[in-house]
Amino acid sequence: DHGYGPDIDHVLLSEEQIQAKITELAEQVARDYEGREVLLVGVLKGAVLFMSDFARALRLPTQMEFMAVSSYGSSTSSSGVVRILKDLDRDISDRHVLVLEDIIDSGLTLSWLLKNLGGRRPASLEVCALLRKPDAIKVEVPVRYVGFDIPNEFVVGYGLDYAERYRDLPYIGTLKPEVYEK
Ligand code: PRP
Ligand code: MN
Ligand code: MG
Repeated sequence: DHGYGPDIDHVLLSEEQIQAKITELAEQVARDYEGREVLLVGVLKGAVLFMSDFARALRLPTQMEFMAVSSYGSSTSSSGVVRILKDLDRDISDRHVLVLEDIIDSGLTLSWLLKNLGGRRPASLEVCALLRKPDAIKVEVPVRYVGFDIPNEFVVGYGLDYAERYRDLPYIGTLKPEVYEK
Protein backbone atom coordinates (compact mmCIF):
# COMPACT_ATOMS: atom_id res chain seq x y z
CA ASP A 1 0.00 0.00 0.00
CA HIS A 2 2.84 2.37 -0.79
CA GLY A 3 3.59 2.91 2.88
CA TYR A 4 0.25 4.65 3.51
CA GLY A 5 -1.00 1.80 5.71
CA PRO A 6 -0.57 3.62 9.05
CA ASP A 7 -2.69 6.57 7.78
CA ILE A 8 -5.65 4.43 6.70
CA ASP A 9 -8.54 4.05 9.13
CA HIS A 10 -10.54 1.51 7.16
CA VAL A 11 -10.83 0.20 3.62
CA LEU A 12 -14.18 1.04 2.09
CA LEU A 13 -13.70 -0.61 -1.30
CA SER A 14 -10.99 -3.13 -2.04
CA GLU A 15 -8.99 -3.31 -5.23
CA GLU A 16 -10.98 -6.43 -6.21
CA GLN A 17 -14.34 -4.73 -5.62
CA ILE A 18 -13.29 -1.71 -7.67
CA GLN A 19 -12.00 -3.77 -10.57
CA ALA A 20 -15.08 -6.02 -10.63
CA LYS A 21 -17.32 -2.95 -10.73
CA ILE A 22 -15.32 -1.43 -13.58
CA THR A 23 -15.72 -4.62 -15.61
CA GLU A 24 -19.47 -4.45 -14.98
CA LEU A 25 -19.73 -0.75 -15.92
CA ALA A 26 -17.64 -1.28 -19.04
CA GLU A 27 -19.87 -4.15 -20.20
CA GLN A 28 -22.94 -1.98 -19.75
CA VAL A 29 -21.37 0.94 -21.63
CA ALA A 30 -20.14 -1.36 -24.42
CA ARG A 31 -23.70 -2.63 -24.92
CA ASP A 32 -25.19 0.86 -24.91
CA TYR A 33 -22.65 2.36 -27.31
CA GLU A 34 -22.36 -0.54 -29.75
CA GLY A 35 -21.67 0.79 -33.25
CA ARG A 36 -20.73 4.24 -31.99
CA GLU A 37 -17.31 5.61 -31.30
CA VAL A 38 -17.05 6.81 -27.71
CA LEU A 39 -14.97 9.75 -26.67
CA LEU A 40 -13.97 9.32 -23.05
CA VAL A 41 -13.38 12.59 -21.24
CA GLY A 42 -11.48 12.08 -18.01
CA VAL A 43 -11.58 14.73 -15.32
CA LEU A 44 -8.07 15.24 -14.00
CA LYS A 45 -6.64 14.46 -11.71
CA GLY A 46 -9.05 12.30 -9.75
CA ALA A 47 -10.32 10.21 -12.66
CA VAL A 48 -6.94 9.21 -14.02
CA LEU A 49 -6.80 5.71 -12.53
CA PHE A 50 -10.47 5.08 -13.34
CA MET A 51 -9.93 6.23 -16.93
CA SER A 52 -6.98 3.96 -17.40
CA ASP A 53 -8.72 0.85 -16.07
CA PHE A 54 -12.09 1.65 -17.63
CA ALA A 55 -10.66 2.23 -21.12
CA ARG A 56 -8.97 -1.17 -20.99
CA ALA A 57 -12.10 -2.92 -19.72
CA LEU A 58 -14.28 -1.32 -22.42
CA ARG A 59 -14.09 -3.51 -25.47
CA LEU A 60 -14.89 -0.71 -27.89
CA PRO A 61 -12.73 1.61 -29.96
CA THR A 62 -12.44 4.75 -27.86
CA GLN A 63 -10.53 7.95 -27.81
CA MET A 64 -9.40 9.72 -24.69
CA GLU A 65 -9.39 13.37 -23.80
CA PHE A 66 -8.68 15.00 -20.49
CA MET A 67 -9.88 18.12 -18.85
CA ALA A 68 -8.41 19.40 -15.63
CA VAL A 69 -10.78 21.27 -13.40
CA SER A 70 -10.49 21.96 -9.75
CA SER A 71 -12.60 23.59 -7.14
CA TYR A 72 -10.75 26.23 -5.22
CA GLY A 73 -8.88 25.24 -2.10
CA SER A 74 -7.33 21.96 -1.05
CA SER A 75 -9.63 21.21 1.86
CA THR A 76 -11.86 18.18 2.25
CA SER A 77 -14.99 19.79 0.84
CA SER A 78 -15.48 21.57 -2.46
CA SER A 79 -16.50 25.18 -2.78
CA GLY A 80 -18.44 25.04 -6.03
CA VAL A 81 -16.13 27.55 -7.63
CA VAL A 82 -14.67 25.63 -10.54
CA ARG A 83 -11.71 26.67 -12.62
CA ILE A 84 -10.35 25.11 -15.81
CA LEU A 85 -6.71 24.17 -15.34
CA LYS A 86 -6.52 22.41 -18.69
CA ASP A 87 -9.15 22.45 -21.40
CA LEU A 88 -9.84 19.70 -23.94
CA ASP A 89 -7.39 19.64 -26.86
CA ARG A 90 -10.08 18.95 -29.44
CA ASP A 91 -13.51 19.89 -30.61
CA ILE A 92 -16.21 17.54 -29.28
CA SER A 93 -19.05 18.64 -31.53
CA ASP A 94 -20.99 15.65 -32.96
CA ARG A 95 -19.04 13.26 -30.74
CA HIS A 96 -20.48 10.75 -28.30
CA VAL A 97 -18.94 12.01 -25.10
CA LEU A 98 -18.79 9.95 -21.92
CA VAL A 99 -17.40 11.91 -18.98
CA LEU A 100 -15.51 9.82 -16.45
CA GLU A 101 -15.40 11.07 -12.88
CA ASP A 102 -13.96 9.43 -9.79
CA ILE A 103 -16.55 10.89 -7.43
CA ILE A 104 -19.67 13.02 -7.25
CA ASP A 105 -19.67 14.72 -3.91
CA SER A 106 -21.75 17.92 -3.89
CA GLY A 107 -22.25 17.56 -7.66
CA LEU A 108 -21.03 21.12 -8.21
CA THR A 109 -18.00 20.19 -10.33
CA LEU A 110 -19.97 17.94 -12.65
CA SER A 111 -22.94 20.25 -12.87
CA TRP A 112 -20.65 23.02 -14.04
CA LEU A 113 -18.76 20.70 -16.38
CA LEU A 114 -21.89 19.32 -18.05
CA LYS A 115 -23.10 22.83 -18.79
CA ASN A 116 -19.71 23.71 -20.21
CA LEU A 117 -19.39 20.58 -22.38
CA GLY A 118 -23.05 20.62 -23.41
CA GLY A 119 -22.49 24.05 -24.95
CA ARG A 120 -19.97 22.51 -27.34
CA ARG A 121 -22.73 20.54 -29.10
CA PRO A 122 -21.69 16.91 -28.64
CA ALA A 123 -23.89 14.27 -30.33
CA SER A 124 -24.49 12.84 -26.86
CA LEU A 125 -23.22 13.57 -23.38
CA GLU A 126 -23.35 11.11 -20.49
CA VAL A 127 -21.54 10.60 -17.21
CA CYS A 128 -19.95 7.55 -15.68
CA ALA A 129 -18.91 8.08 -12.07
CA LEU A 130 -17.18 5.46 -9.98
CA LEU A 131 -18.45 6.89 -6.68
CA ARG A 132 -21.36 9.00 -5.58
CA LYS A 133 -22.30 10.36 -2.15
CA PRO A 134 -26.10 10.64 -2.14
CA ASP A 135 -26.09 12.44 1.24
CA ALA A 136 -23.69 15.17 0.08
CA ILE A 137 -25.52 16.17 -3.11
CA LYS A 138 -26.21 19.90 -3.41
CA VAL A 139 -27.19 19.94 -7.09
CA GLU A 140 -28.83 17.09 -8.96
CA VAL A 141 -26.70 15.89 -11.85
CA PRO A 142 -27.96 13.46 -14.48
CA VAL A 143 -25.60 10.50 -14.17
CA ARG A 144 -26.14 7.54 -16.44
CA TYR A 145 -23.65 5.13 -14.85
CA VAL A 146 -22.64 4.93 -11.18
CA GLY A 147 -20.28 2.42 -9.62
CA PHE A 148 -20.96 2.75 -5.90
CA ASP A 149 -23.11 4.93 -3.68
CA ILE A 150 -21.06 5.55 -0.56
CA PRO A 151 -21.61 7.17 2.84
CA ASN A 152 -20.82 10.85 3.33
CA GLU A 153 -17.32 10.44 4.72
CA PHE A 154 -14.06 11.68 3.26
CA VAL A 155 -12.36 8.97 1.21
CA VAL A 156 -9.00 8.70 -0.50
CA GLY A 157 -7.29 6.33 -2.90
CA TYR A 158 -7.80 5.17 -6.47
CA GLY A 159 -7.35 8.72 -7.79
CA LEU A 160 -8.87 10.51 -4.81
CA ASP A 161 -6.51 12.70 -2.81
CA TYR A 162 -6.13 14.48 0.44
CA ALA A 163 -3.70 17.37 -0.15
CA GLU A 164 -2.48 15.56 -3.31
CA ARG A 165 -1.57 12.39 -1.42
CA TYR A 166 -3.03 8.85 -1.61
CA ARG A 167 -4.13 8.99 -5.28
CA ASP A 168 -1.86 6.04 -6.03
CA LEU A 169 -3.58 3.63 -3.62
CA PRO A 170 -5.26 0.74 -5.49
CA TYR A 171 -8.16 0.73 -3.00
CA ILE A 172 -10.47 3.35 -1.48
CA GLY A 173 -10.46 4.05 2.23
CA THR A 174 -10.84 6.60 4.97
CA LEU A 175 -8.07 8.39 6.83
CA LYS A 176 -7.40 8.37 10.54
CA PRO A 177 -8.44 11.66 12.19
CA GLU A 178 -4.85 12.47 13.17
CA VAL A 179 -3.83 12.68 9.49
CA TYR A 180 -5.96 15.83 9.13
CA GLU A 181 -4.25 17.40 12.12
CA LYS A 182 -0.78 17.20 10.60
C1 PRP B 1 -12.71 16.15 -6.62
C2 PRP B 1 -13.21 14.90 -7.32
C3 PRP B 1 -14.32 15.42 -8.20
C4 PRP B 1 -14.89 16.56 -7.37
C5 PRP B 1 -16.16 16.12 -6.70
O1 PRP B 1 -11.85 16.84 -7.49
O2 PRP B 1 -12.18 14.31 -8.10
O3 PRP B 1 -13.81 15.92 -9.42
O4 PRP B 1 -13.90 16.88 -6.37
O5 PRP B 1 -16.64 17.11 -5.83
P1 PRP B 1 -18.00 17.90 -6.03
O6 PRP B 1 -19.04 16.92 -6.54
O7 PRP B 1 -18.33 18.38 -4.64
O8 PRP B 1 -17.78 19.03 -6.97
P2 PRP B 1 -10.88 18.01 -7.00
O9 PRP B 1 -11.55 19.32 -7.24
O10 PRP B 1 -10.43 17.73 -5.60
O11 PRP B 1 -9.63 17.92 -8.00
P3 PRP B 1 -8.73 16.61 -8.27
O12 PRP B 1 -9.56 15.68 -9.10
O13 PRP B 1 -7.56 17.12 -9.01
O14 PRP B 1 -8.38 16.03 -6.92
MN1 MN C 1 -11.63 15.71 -9.55
MG1 MG D 1 -9.00 16.57 -5.02
